[in-house]
Amino acid sequence: MNPIFSALQTSVFEVMSRLARETGAVNLGQGFPDDPGPEDVRRKAADAVINGWNQYPPMMGLPELRQSVATHFKRWQGLDLDPDAEVMVTSGATEAIAGALMALITPGDEVVLFEPMYDAYVPLVRRAGGIPKFVTLTPPAFGLSEEALAKAFSPKTRVVLFNNPLNPTATIFSEADLDLLAAFCVRFDAVAICDEVWEHVVFDGHRHKPMLSRPGMRERTVKISSAGKIFSLTGWKVGMVMAAPNLMRVLAKAHQYITFTTPPNLQAAVAYGLGKDDSYFEGMRADFQRSRDRFAAGLTGLGFNVLPSVGTYFLNVDIGALGESDDVAFCQRLVMENGVAAIPVSAFYAEGAVKTVVRFCFAKHDSTLDAALERLADWRKAA
Ligand SMILES: Cc1ncc(COP(=O)(O)O)c(C=O)c1O
Repeated sequence: MNPIFSALQTSVFEVMSRLARETGAVNLGQGFPDDPGPEDVRRKAADAVINGWNQYPPMMGLPELRQSVATHFKRWQGLDLDPDAEVMVTSGATEAIAGALMALITPGDEVVLFEPMYDAYVPLVRRAGGIPKFVTLTPPAFGLSEEALAKAFSPKTRVVLFNNPLNPTATIFSEADLDLLAAFCVRFDAVAICDEVWEHVVFDGHRHKPMLSRPGMRERTVKISSAGKIFSLTGWKVGMVMAAPNLMRVLAKAHQYITFTTPPNLQAAVAYGLGKDDSYFEGMRADFQRSRDRFAAGLTGLGFNVLPSVGTYFLNVDIGALGESDDVAFCQRLVMENGVAAIPVSAFYAEGAVKTVVRFCFAKHDSTLDAALERLADWRKAA
C-alpha cells in the first residue's frame, strides 16, 4: 500500500460529523449549506437528464459551458479567456487540483503551501512527488510577509498552491499580498495553482481579485473554480479550470486520464447558472452575510472572541481568550457535552499549528444557528 495514503487518519470532518450524528449535536462542522440550492439551476440539470445528451461529453467540457465560463469571468473578474484553448471542466475543484499537481510536478520539485490549508493539499502534493514547503499564517490577519516567502521559495520551487478566499480562516489576501506572491512566482519561475472556489462567497462589498490578472501571472497561473461553491450545490462536483494554452495542454492530459469528463446534465445546468443576472450572486452573498452577522452577534453576546469573516461561509472564534489552549479537546467536549459540532483549525496545519482557533459553518437556517447559540450559552454558563 502507498504509505502516503495508508498513514492518513480519518479526516476531522468525518470524525466530527459522526460524533454529531451519534450525539444528535447541531452540526456546524462540515461546510455545506442547509438550503437546497437555486431551483432553476437544479431544474435545468433534471431537464438535461431527461431531454439532453447522456453519453460521454467532450473531454474539455461542453462548449456551451466553456463559453459560459469565459463570459462569466469576463463580467465578474475582467478576465479575457479563450473558451476553446483556456477553459476546461473537471469533476470538482478537487480533481482540478489533483490533476494540476500531477501535470506540473516532477518528483523532487518543491511546492509552496500556506497553512492553514484545505486538507486534500498535502497528500496530493506528496503523492505527485512534490516536497511541501510551508508558509505558516497566523491569526488574526493570516497575511503574507516577504520574510516568510523568502524562507519557503528556492530554485527548486516549481509550484505554489494558493487558496483565496482562504478556507478555514475566512480571510481574503490583500492586493499587496497578491503582488508580493506574484513577484516571488516570477522571480523563481513557479506556477501558481490558485484554488479560488470561494471567489463568489465574499462579504461587505468585497470583489474577488484573481491571481491570473496580477502582473506577470497570466502565463503562470492555473485558476480553479467550483460550481459547488458558486451555487451552494456542494455535491455536484463540477470544477472549472482556466489557464494559458501552454499550461492547459498539459493539464488536459492529466484530466484525460483521471476522469476524462463530468456528467453532461450538470455541465448544462452550470452553463445556464453562470449566466444568471447579478441579483442571484448579490442575493446569495447578502443571505450568507445576514447569517454571518446573526451568528457573530450571538457569539459575541456570549463573550466569544469572534475573528473577522469576509469570505467563505465560516466563522472562527479565538478560544485562547477563554483560557482554552487545545482546540481539538475543546471541540470534542463541545460536541459530546454541549451538542455543537465545530472544527479545530489546528487540523488544517501540517507544521506550525495554531491551537486556539475553532471554525463554525454559518450557512444554516436561523433556527439551526439559534439552537447552536442556545447550547453554547449553556456551555458558557457551566464554564
Ligand atoms: C478551499 C477548497 N478547495 C476545494 C474544495 C473542493 O471543491 P469541490 O467540491 O469542487 O471539489 C473545497 C471544498 O470545501 C474548498 O474549501
